[in-house]
Amino acid sequence: PEGLHALMMSAGKEYFGTATETDNFGDESYQAILAYQGEFGMITPENSQKWEVTEPRRNHFVYTNADAVSEKAQDNGHLLRCHTLTWHSQLPSFVSSGSWNTTTLTSVLTTHITNVMTHFKGQCYAWDVVNEALNEDGSYRESVFYEVLGDEYIPLSFKTAAEADPDAKLYYNDFNLETSSKKADGAERIVKLVQESGARIDGVGFQAHLIVGQTPSRQTLAALLSRFARLGVEVAWTELDIAHDFSSSSSNGSSTANATQLEQQAQDYVSVVGACLDEPKCVGVTVWQFTDKYSWVPSTFPGRGEPCLWTADYKKKPAYDAVSRLL
Ligand code: XIL
Repeated sequence: PEGLHALMMSAGKEYFGTATETDNFGDESYQAILAYQGEFGMITPENSQKWEVTEPRRNHFVYTNADAVSEKAQDNGHLLRCHTLTWHSQLPSFVSSGSWNTTTLTSVLTTHITNVMTHFKGQCYAWDVVNEALNEDGSYRESVFYEVLGDEYIPLSFKTAAEADPDAKLYYNDFNLETSSKKADGAERIVKLVQESGARIDGVGFQAHLIVGQTPSRQTLAALLSRFARLGVEVAWTELDIAHDFSSSSSNGSSTANATQLEQQAQDYVSVVGACLDEPKCVGVTVWQFTDKYSWVPSTFPGRGEPCLWTADYKKKPAYDAVSRLL
């Protein structure tokens, strides 16, 4: 087989996917790769299903862009990973700065989840139900949800989600679980909290926004995945990108990767994808955009860049070739 998804399937996994967004749909070179048979089997909307887009004002729901991404998935024969419902970020101000009590915020939260999931019912392979509920030390993040509802907002979100779309897999999703053992402890606590409440949780998504040369080994990453698999959930890499840190001394002021850095990036991608191969309950890998042209990294983390498998002018990087050979 040719293409990352086709190779991933032949390795016994469900998909190799990518984040994408409607802004990218007018770019023909981009579209050619996205639609190329076998390259991807899954797409995730990078922004258009987030709360600030889908419900910018209370009870006013907007699905234009998210529908366009879902149609793109259907046109290309791709699955859709839906992202995300309960999250402190990209949250409209009516939620984040409202004055809520338990009853009113419960109503706002369950109305949002039910409306969005009902709209996309039958289209989502999985939903990231709760995103980034943890601080780096494993404690709960001080979001409006936590302040008003306590940790109860997490099982509440999963319970509401399970009722709205019984066929979508329900995930907890977070970053730095790969690099902070305390945060991984917190994620384990969340899985158990939801399970003990009697609500359904099917998976844990590991975002894996990583740095070249600071990516844990394949063995360490596989051990992390299997720790969660033992809790009775599936696991996936959901937002993989591995950025060069151009502010480090080895970069000598350059903001383009040299051959050594590209080789290290390839090894790091192999560690991450390889860990998924090592864990039977790891279902797939999603990269957070496939070309450096559209990566969120440089504008969000000044000094970091070029984290993707394709260059900004659509050439496959050593990391692409290394992942292909691995699969
Ligand atoms: C990012 C998008 O890539 C950006 O375009 C946007 O400006 C901010 O959000 N964790 C997540 C993703 O769960 O939704 C984030 O996506 C990256 C970090």
